[in-house]
Amino acid sequence: MEAVHTQAEVTKRRTLARSTLLIELRAEDLFKNGQRPAPGQFVMLGPLKEDSTDPFLNRPFSIHRLSGPDRLELLIAVVGRGTTILGSLMPGDRLGLLGPLGNGFTFPEPSRPVVLVAGGLGVAPLFFLAEELCACGVQPRLFYGAGSVDLLVPTDGLQAQGVSVKLATDDGSAGFAGFVSELLAQELLNQETPDAYSAACGPMDMLRAVTDLARNRGLDLEVSLESRMACGLGACLGCTVFLSTGAGRRICCDGPVFRAREVFGP
Ligand SMILES: Cc1cc2nc3c(=O)[nH]c(=O)nc-3n(C[C@H](O)[C@H](O)[C@H](O)COP(=O)(O)OP(=O)(O)OC[C@H]3O[C@@H](n4cnc5c(N)ncnc54)[C@H](O)[C@@H]3O)c2cc1C
Ligand code: FES
Repeated sequence: MEAVHTQAEVTKRRTLARSTLLIELRAEDLFKNGQRPAPGQFVMLGPLKEDSTDPFLNRPFSIHRLSGPDRLELLIAVVGRGTTILGSLMPGDRLGLLGPLGNGFTFPEPSRPVVLVAGGLGVAPLFFLAEELCACGVQPRLFYGAGSVDLLVPTDGLQAQGVSVKLATDDGSAGFAGFVSELLAQELLNQETPDAYSAACGPMDMLRAVTDLARNRGLDLEVSLESRMACGLGACLGCTVFLSTGAGRRICCDGPVFRAREVFGP
């Protein structure tokens, strides 16, 4: 669907994990004429407050869930100026929104096994994908890692829909002790996964490690990438990533989802 520039209203705000908020926005214009955003797409938020241009540039956030016929949820880690302002918004506040943007994940055929791999806030778009897959009768497996237990957002809602969730924490405070890529390697060790579709989102080192595994285990992997963004519309080139071939691609409009082998090499 075509991106719209609109005003959204904060309808819910909740802390889900350390420095991590869930914000629900009502944005009717994104759902006009029966259209709806797709998993893996994102929105640019800003101005974050009426009558203010602080911060000057809009900020990109993955669509975490669709929570109603005119509502979407975002998962926001408070890391700097813009996200601190977002964290101070209350129900009833209004902010600018541009979206949906980007290409989104390739939706796999319902017959294929699905493996999702999330590192930290990379879980945000994978929730949306997992819920849409469940709605089509697919029960994906989600491997989800974070630094420690207090940084994990709750996954019970996904599990209730049939998603099998395996957790990893760097410090061993919940689930497997170590990186989520190590957990995935252990789980896939004795499993053939021909024809499996996989999607991953998280830090670059994690995506690289998961891509290595995908090569060895025959997973068809897509990765969702992040970068600083200025326009979100393909005009400024500020979000360019260089593929393994040396070709440049704009994360905002050629991505954010790419085939892993395009990014990290065959
Ligand atoms: C397609 C896309 C989807 C995203 N989805 C989410 C999401 O669902 N939830 C979420 O919390 N964040 C997400 N991000 C990252 C989010 O946009 C940034 O964290 C946010 O813009 C930071 O704004 P700020 O003003 O608070 O931080 P600033 O004050 O601008 O910066 C604070 C610190 O964060 C670092 N930083 C800022 N942006 C990024 C970035 N994109 N990548 C790495 N480091 C960065 C800066 O270098 C600095 O150290 C996404 C980014 C992209 C491109
Ligand atoms: S953010 Fe401007 S081209 Fe992508």
